[in-house]
Amino acid sequence: MAMSDLLLLGQGADLSSQRGVSCTGKLPEVSDPALVERAKIARASLGDRAIVLGHHYQRDEVIDFADITGDSFKLAQAAAAQSSAEYVIFCGVHFMAESADILTSKEQKVILPDLAAGCSMADMATANQVNECWKSLEEVGVAPKTIPVTYMNSSAAIKSFTGEHGGTICTSSNAEKTMRWALEQGEKILFLPDQHLGRNTAVLSLGLTLDDCVLWNPWKPMGGLTPQDIHKAKVILWRGHCSVHGRFTLDSVNEIRSRVQGVQVLVHPECQHDVVSAADVVGSTERIIQTVSNSPAGSKWAIGTELNLVSRLAKTNPDKEIFFLDKAVCYCSTMNRIDLPHLVWAMESLVANHVVNQIQVSDEVARFSKLALERMLAL
Ligand code: 13P
Ligand code: SF4
Repeated sequence: MAMSDLLLLGQGADLSSQRGVSCTGKLPEVSDPALVERAKIARASLGDRAIVLGHHYQRDEVIDFADITGDSFKLAQAAAAQSSAEYVIFCGVHFMAESADILTSKEQKVILPDLAAGCSMADMATANQVNECWKSLEEVGVAPKTIPVTYMNSSAAIKSFTGEHGGTICTSSNAEKTMRWALEQGEKILFLPDQHLGRNTAVLSLGLTLDDCVLWNPWKPMGGLTPQDIHKAKVILWRGHCSVHGRFTLDSVNEIRSRVQGVQVLVHPECQHDVVSAADVVGSTERIIQTVSNSPAGSKWAIGTELNLVSRLAKTNPDKEIFFLDKAVCYCSTMNRIDLPHLVWAMESLVANHVVNQIQVSDEVARFSKLALERMLAL
C-alpha cells in the first residue's frame, strides 16, 4: 500500500536530536503528554489577537494549529491581508517571517517560534556578495539593462537590493510571470539565489536555452565569468541551491518509472534541471497538493519535495499511491526546527504578554524590500 512504500523509502527518521536545541526559553519536554492540551489552551487564550501561519513543510503537530497553511506565496498574501491580529506566529523559516514583518503593519509583531529555523539556500547569497556582483555588472556595462529577480528564499537585505534596482521578488508559483515581466523591463535577468528555479523557469517555461544562462559564482572574481559571457547571457544565475531538493536525481526518476507502472513524477522546481525536465508535473508546494488532491483514485505519484509534505499527502490521499522520490530521508532540517514544544513556548509566552522571538526588519531595509514584494503581489 502507498504509505508503506513511502515509509520504505523514507524510513529511519530520528529527528529527536534536532528538537529544542536553540530555544532560549524553558521548553516543555517532547514527551509531555499534556503538550497538545497546553497548545489548545494557549491558542484559545490568544484568540483573535494571534494568527498562526504554517508552511506546508511543517510537521503535522504544528500544522494542526495553523489557521492558514500555504506555500510561500500564499503565506505572503495571507500576511499582507492580515491587519487585525496583534501577533503573526510564523511556522516556517526566517526569510518567510521577515517577509511577513515587511508586509504587516508596524503595530503587528511577527514571531518565529525557533530563531534557528533558517534556510541554507537563503544563506548562499549575502548582501556584500550581491553588491559586489552588481558592481561587476556596472563595470561590464550591463547593469542598466539588468533586472534582478530574487526568489523569496533570500534575506530582507537582498530583497531590498532587488527593490532598489528595479526588480521583483518571485516564488516558485510565479517565477515564470515575474521573469517575463523582468524581460519586458530590461534585457537581462540577475536571478538570485536559486540557480535551479532560475534555470528551470528560463528553459522550460520561457523557451530560453541553457546557453542563454550563465552561472555567477560569488566566490570567484567577476563570478568566474568573462565580460563576453556576461554580455551574451540573458539570465545570470546565482550559484545557490536547496540542499533538500538537490538530493533528487534522474536515476531515482528512472528507477521509479521502471518499477511502478503508470507512476507520474511530480517535483518542486528547486530540483536539478535534469530531474525537472524528466518530471510529468512541476510546481510549488501548493500546486503539488492541488495536483495530488485533484487526481483520480488509483493515481500513482512519485513526489520530489520535502518529506513532511509528502508523508501528509500519503495520509490525506489513502485512495492513491504516493511514493517519495528519494531512497533516504529528506526533511528540511531547518523547517523541522519548529516543533510543538517551540510553538507552545511561543504561544504561552504571548499569553503572558512576554514577546519572544520577534522578527523585525529595520525601516531602512523594509523600504525597498517592501517595494520588491509589492511588485510581486501586484503582478
Ligand atoms: P514553496 O514556495 O513552493 O512553498 O517553497 C518554499 C520552499 O522553501 C521550498 O523549498
Ligand atoms: Fe530552504 Fe530548501 Fe528548506 Fe526550502 S527546503 S527552506 S529552500 S533549505
